[in-house]
Amino acid sequence: MRIILIGYGIVGQSLTQMLAQRKTELIKNYGFHPRIVAIADRRGATVNAKGLNLEKALTLKKQRGTVAASPEHGHPGMSALNVIENVDAETIVEVTPTNIKDGEPGLSHIKTALKTGKHVVTTNKGPLALALPALTELADYNEVYLRFSGTVGGGTPVLDTAKRCLIGDKILAIRGILNGTTNYILTQMDEERITFQQALKNAQKLGYAEADPSLDVDGIDTASKLVIMANWIMNKRVTLKNVNIQGIRNFTLEALNKAAKKNCTIKLIGSINQNLTVAPTEIPRQNPLCVRGVLNAVTFVSEFAGEQTIIGRGAGGMETASAILRDLLDIKQKLATKLTT
Ligand SMILES: NC(=O)c1ccc[n+]([C@@H]2O[C@H](COP(=O)([O-])OP(=O)(O)OC[C@H]3O[C@@H](n4cnc5c(N)ncnc54)[C@H](OP(=O)(O)O)[C@@H]3O)[C@@H](O)[C@H]2O)c1
Repeated sequence: MRIILIGYGIVGQSLTQMLAQRKTELIKNYGFHPRIVAIADRRGATVNAKGLNLEKALTLKKQRGTVAASPEHGHPGMSALNVIENVDAETIVEVTPTNIKDGEPGLSHIKTALKTGKHVVTTNKGPLALALPALTELADYNEVYLRFSGTVGGGTPVLDTAKRCLIGDKILAIRGILNGTTNYILTQMDEERITFQQALKNAQKLGYAEADPSLDVDGIDTASKLVIMANWIMNKRVTLKNVNIQGIRNFTLEALNKAAKKNCTIKLIGSINQNLTVAPTEIPRQNPLCVRGVLNAVTFVSEFAGEQTIIGRGAGGMETASAILRDLLDIKQKLATKLTT
């Protein structure tokens, strides 16, 4: 499979490291020969139709700050859109930063890839939260696959658990902790009895929260993941506009004290039933959703199998790259099945 990689930050670099490291097993165990034919970052691209040397690309990015500095294959200033339109490949991996305002640049990258007949794997929540129903239609129309396992739960197979492991059952409701940053803040407030501002500062010091933490603490990140799950798992055609969102910015120790009297704590819970809601919610301490620190946890309520909860780290470069690899293998297997039927 020829792959174009758009974005070469934490996740993009982790993916190339993983592909280089697991090359032999991928061929032996899955018959999978991924060939990265182009990588683009903000300063340009590197392109080689025969397949790039991934160790060299990683070193170049670390030493020179851009893959476009490659003496043999570099194209300084070449835009990602230009690469998607003009380089032959079966699949695009889109891992540019999440932008929840207009989805760009990821939205244009994904649309262009789908329109030019390329499968897309992405971990970028922005375009999906804003336009997932339209993107799914575009993928179907062009008879290509759009996959995004890494957008919810990082490497924890939240979407796969619902879609594959619970196949045949009917998922009636979903609720969960979908954002590690806010879970860390609430855990700190609960266990150390510190204020929201103090806990946020600790999270920023440890690199769990951005300098501008709005997307996390105002519940937008959780809401984006709800939108993705509602579309993909429950066939609801919704976008970010359909989610009622309350974050934790004004959250106080007083609310935690009240919950503690009932042997509960408070978590930022995203839930899907009749409506899509994000809100700080009381949770009994013995509930499986009551996970600490940066962990994520999601409970699926299904008609026949009852309740299942999946718990894991919701972010991390290698973790998220493992979700991309799962999606790439899924597409490869789907294409192979198509050929034999
Ligand atoms: N990191 C995680 O644990 C994690 C987990 C789940 C989902 N995600 C999502 O995965 C995506 C990637 O995350 P990340 O942590 O790898 O981000 P990152 O480290 O900030 O990397 C983003 C990459 O995108 C490139 N880029 C930005 N604008 C571009 C443009 N117009 N054209 C081409 N390349 C462009 C950047 O180029 P330069 O290198 O030149 O700046 C950089 O290489 C994000 O949407 C994020 O929300 C991340």
